[in-house]
Amino acid sequence: MFQSTLNTRSEEYQANVTAMQALVKQLEERQAQVSAGGGEKGAAKMRGRGKLLPRERLELLLDPGTPFLELSPLAAWGMYNDESPCASHIIGIGLVSGVECMIFVNDPTVKGGAVYPMTLQKTLRAQTIARENRLPCISLVESAGANLLFQDEIFILGGKSFANQAQMSSLGIPQISLVFGSSTAGGAYVPGMSDYTVFVRGKAYAYLGGPPLVKMATGEETDDETLGGAEMHAQVSGLADYLAEDDRDAIRIGRQIVAQLNQQKPAVCLNRRQTPRDPAYDSEELLGVIPADPKIPFDIREIIIRLVDGSDFFEFKPEYGPTLVCGHAHLNGWPVGILGNNGILFSESANKAAQFIQLCNQSRTPLIYLQNITGFMVGTKYERQGIIKHGSQMINAVATSTVPQFSVIVGGSYGAGNYAMCGRAYDPRFLWTWPNSRVAVMGGEQAAGVLAIVQEQRAKRLGVEPDANAIQMMQMMTRQKFETESDPYYATARLWDDGIIDPRDTRRALSVGLSVAHNVDFISPGMPHYAVFRM
Ligand code: COA
Repeated sequence: MFQSTLNTRSEEYQANVTAMQALVKQLEERQAQVSAGGGEKGAAKMRGRGKLLPRERLELLLDPGTPFLELSPLAAWGMYNDESPCASHIIGIGLVSGVECMIFVNDPTVKGGAVYPMTLQKTLRAQTIARENRLPCISLVESAGANLLFQDEIFILGGKSFANQAQMSSLGIPQISLVFGSSTAGGAYVPGMSDYTVFVRGKAYAYLGGPPLVKMATGEETDDETLGGAEMHAQVSGLADYLAEDDRDAIRIGRQIVAQLNQQKPAVCLNRRQTPRDPAYDSEELLGVIPADPKIPFDIREIIIRLVDGSDFFEFKPEYGPTLVCGHAHLNGWPVGILGNNGILFSESANKAAQFIQLCNQSRTPLIYLQNITGFMVGTKYERQGIIKHGSQMINAVATSTVPQFSVIVGGSYGAGNYAMCGRAYDPRFLWTWPNSRVAVMGGEQAAGVLAIVQEQRAKRLGVEPDANAIQMMQMMTRQKFETESDPYYATARLWDDGIIDPRDTRRALSVGLSVAHNVDFISPGMPHYAVFRM
């Protein structure tokens, strides 16, 4: 076992904990802020109508006392004048009648639950996760449909969410809608494309156009109940499969529907799991591993041993390419291969990674990438050694890997290092970040420096004196721009990740990810398409 050298009594450790605690506090405050949705006014309106609030519905749907892994709660943070908390859609993975489900909850306390562009993006991302991990989808519907002020950004892609519902259903992934309120226009297709629907009597409505639109289009005078009420859909149109008396009753019926779906993990996957063991090192200490000063390096093994079962980490090639740590472990009982950065990527570390990824594909072992990477080494010596070629081999191995992959950005994630360590573009099943993380093509200081050199060289070519003031100004603006855009909240708002997490929740998040990944048999299909080759 790797022996920790973290001195939990040292001043440095305490300073790290203090800095990380401040970041976690900020995260919790922001999460609490968006969790309140439309606030008191919106809540009072719903209560006045005899309805439960979105998070109350969610709480009742989940198996009592079980956790909910909320995805991207800070999507749309700082966007749309902050009028779309949680991107107006609470989404996550939870247990319903013992089955892992993807749960979508409209928030009608915010603009009637209207869909913003990021609401749609968040929905599509969750559908991808549901499809990859065979998670039944339960939608708690009450929405004004497309936010008409953003129709140009919603209309075309909006159709994709309905296509996803049909395609998942065809793959045997059940689609369930519990309709609590308005489900209008495009929104009516959420229950329309579902395998099972539950409508709340006297509260749920679904129609392609509401009474005002019908009047305008055809002159017909009608009302909500006649046009698209729950009873009409249960008794006449057949859109409603079950009629519920109130919100609680709808949730009870929803839970009963899930109970009879007969969802089970394939035996070949379940057999893989060992009895889970807690890490031997306290995960609380994860707060003190990351130096408060991001320029100070730390040993990624200090994180690994606080995540994995028994802190047992069987390291692969420890003395070769040491800036990338690779090895096998178990996490909550599931076997995993882990790759973690311990410095810049060199040719040797890239070679080692490519080999290790292939080995894990050969043994059908899921991969976890712990990113803290400034990029690949630059310089003549390294170019001559073939750093591009070796980096490409690593990127190739990551991109063509067929086992489930998971990424956690625990520090910086810059340049092609982001790609090689399974960044967002490499479709890891889940990608989480820590509140100290930074994601960008390079650091702001480096970018400002590069642009200054380019400007100076250009002036030299033209035979003029470089404008020092203009270059200084440009450098300042570049640094500022990079600072803003590499902030983890900027990234999470735009769904570059599946959420910012408290470092202490990393094992829990990965456990859920690994568990749902084992809903699909990725073990039986035979050997990978490439051989293991020594490089
Ligand atoms: N796009 C943008 N904003 C919308 C909206 C939409 N589709 N639907 C409602 N809103 C806004 C309202 O303007 C209002 O804004 P405000 O708080 O700034 O005044 C807020 O959402 C709440 O609307 P309100 O009508 O007061 O809420 P409600 O709970 O009484 O009724 C609906 C909710 C959904 C029944 C009703 O708003 C409605 O019928 N909306 C239009 C639905 C529709 O036709 N959608 C078509 C989409 S393709």
